[in-house]
Amino acid sequence: MSAAYKALVDRITAADRAYYQDDAPDLTDAEYDALVGQRREMEADDASLAAPIIEGELQRVGAPPAAGFAKVRHRVPMLSLDNAFDAASFDAFTTSVRRFLRLDDAAPLPLVAEPKIDGLSISLLYERGTLVRAATRGDGEEGEDVTANVAHVPSVPQRLLGDAPGFIEIRGEIYMTRADFVTLNASQERQFANPRNAAAGSLRQLDPAITAQRPVRLFAYAMGDASDAPAETHAGFLDQLRNWGFMVNDLDRVLPGPADAPAFQAEIAALRPSLPYEIDGVVYKIDSLALQRRLGFAGRAPRWAVAWKFPAEQATTLLEAIHIQVGRTGALTPVAWLAPVFVGGVSVTRATLHNEDEIARKDIRPGDTVTLQRAGDVIPQVLGPVLTAPRGTPYVYPSTCPACGSAAIRPANEVVRRCTGGLACPAQVTERLRHFTSRAAFDIEGLGDKTIVELFAIGWLHTPADVFRLAQHRDALLTREGWKAKSVAALLAAIEQRRTIGLDRFIYALGIRRVGETNARLLARHYTSLTHWRAQMLEATTVGSDARLALGSIIGVGPALADELAEFFAAPLNLAALDDLAAQLVVRDVVAPAEGALAGKTVVFTGTLETMSRPEAKARALALGARVSDSVSAKTDLVVLGTDAGSKAKKAAMLGVRTITEEEWRGYAD
Ligand code: IVH
Repeated sequence: MSAAYKALVDRITAADRAYYQDDAPDLTDAEYDALVGQRREMEADDASLAAPIIEGELQRVGAPPAAGFAKVRHRVPMLSLDNAFDAASFDAFTTSVRRFLRLDDAAPLPLVAEPKIDGLSISLLYERGTLVRAATRGDGEEGEDVTANVAHVPSVPQRLLGDAPGFIEIRGEIYMTRADFVTLNASQERQFANPRNAAAGSLRQLDPAITAQRPVRLFAYAMGDASDAPAETHAGFLDQLRNWGFMVNDLDRVLPGPADAPAFQAEIAALRPSLPYEIDGVVYKIDSLALQRRLGFAGRAPRWAVAWKFPAEQATTLLEAIHIQVGRTGALTPVAWLAPVFVGGVSVTRATLHNEDEIARKDIRPGDTVTLQRAGDVIPQVLGPVLTAPRGTPYVYPSTCPACGSAAIRPANEVVRRCTGGLACPAQVTERLRHFTSRAAFDIEGLGDKTIVELFAIGWLHTPADVFRLAQHRDALLTREGWKAKSVAALLAAIEQRRTIGLDRFIYALGIRRVGETNARLLARHYTSLTHWRAQMLEATTVGSDARLALGSIIGVGPALADELAEFFAAPLNLAALDDLAAQLVVRDVVAPAEGALAGKTVVFTGTLETMSRPEAKARALALGARVSDSVSAKTDLVVLGTDAGSKAKKAAMLGVRTITEEEWRGYAD
């Protein structure tokens, strides 16, 4: 690797660190893009350097944890909200709530509506009324300990006024007003892109004295874990928050029912430009906390709330070029390189063009002026060209992989073209490794993009298992430019720390298509050990086998995911890589929650339940530690019989499986 290339990569990495971790960009987007452009050119000239576009280059938002803050595991995960973008998707939310609760359309369903503050969420733990810990959201499971910083935020009460519960975790949004943001940027050289970045950068300071000088504020709006229920309704809880001394947004309103939401949405949208702080929508929450408890959570979001976002902002700019990015499954994704334009509060230079058909359908050509749109944290999208003459030639989508030259094939009925290079494609291999070492997977600090590319280029790092054999190259690594005893030791120690891993992360890290964090957790909970999962997946490669049927009938899995898993396990190379990796590790079993009355039991529901919907019954069973299946077998522990239960009841009787009535089931569920 040439010294010039290395210097360039180092400069880009430093800029990324300044941008992401210090919230203090040291280059303008244009300067940054020029460097990335140079790097791309050098990579185009020398295949051994070829690296995929890193996420930071695609969209410079997001914040991996800064080194230096202690990590805090949240007592209750900090989840996100499902979004609605119009009245129809808002109606879909209330319809699904009613269906889940078996409430008919006429039953009252009061909601609380609150502006959705554009800041960063925070968790504040109070014990006997005293603030003992503050943490950022992080990945939702684990955040950064910012207790010392929050001590300097005047709107965060250090002590609760009046009676306080044994413990309670309060959640809210740290934000900065527009006026404070402008004043802050005017007073210093480092420029924050928007009030949200400024609030995040000001809070996440290793030196709390800096936070003390920054005008950050808090709006409180939710609760995590608590020793006693503070109220019966969300509106009552907001009043309690006010009594304890929190700032609660005063635009909140109790709505008699969902029909009142569109008018409230319009009212807040009209107020939005004149508000002193930034908001990006309205959050609607079911007012009754008892109903909230019944509704619970699905995946990463509560069923009892929805964020109705304001429409995305649009802008036009020059499409300088179309670049093709190669992902870890070989998918070719077109990325628009744009002349910088300010939209949705940030300067945008990259946007997604979705896929080949979208480019053709909209006839988007390099050199066009295009309209783009950006909302919140989603990747900006190119909507289409603004037609002016003259135009460049129509864009021809590549039929070979830009990273390895292999044929890029698009199967019939699929929108995505994929590189066929497999493990021979440097982009695919390094992307898989990036996924493998990423935060939600093995979370190996110090094994970032740059290092992966470097170690891949030398030939030490091709498969996930190679990560755990890097120690063999310790001495050779020490002789390489840029590596010191300290950095080598830190990397190897970070790797050793991850030799023991939970089954859910292990499954996620394999990077199987469609197996994201939620599905990986679902599979881990269902199969509980690596040995069992592996054996069942091998059996499931046979279409029609019991294992395949069982896999497809796990709630939330479905046939497409079952096919994907079967395909993965049918490939000998994948199995070899998995076994090679597993031999390096201790993969922890999932222990079913012992406190659950149905821990480890397999439950089947059949017939119509009168007092709760099927999804609610299933959610309760899962919460009690059970597995829920759709078919009765000898392995079933319990069958709950609704009215008109048919063949499943008979099968249970035949197999001698215990059956209970809905009323008996309520004995467990309530
Ligand atoms: S309630 C279980 N209320 O929006 C999640 N969130 O997109 C409960 N946010 O992570 C969140 N204003 O950071 C809630 N009034 C509000 C909010 C709000 C802003 C943020 C919050 C959350 C994100 C989800």
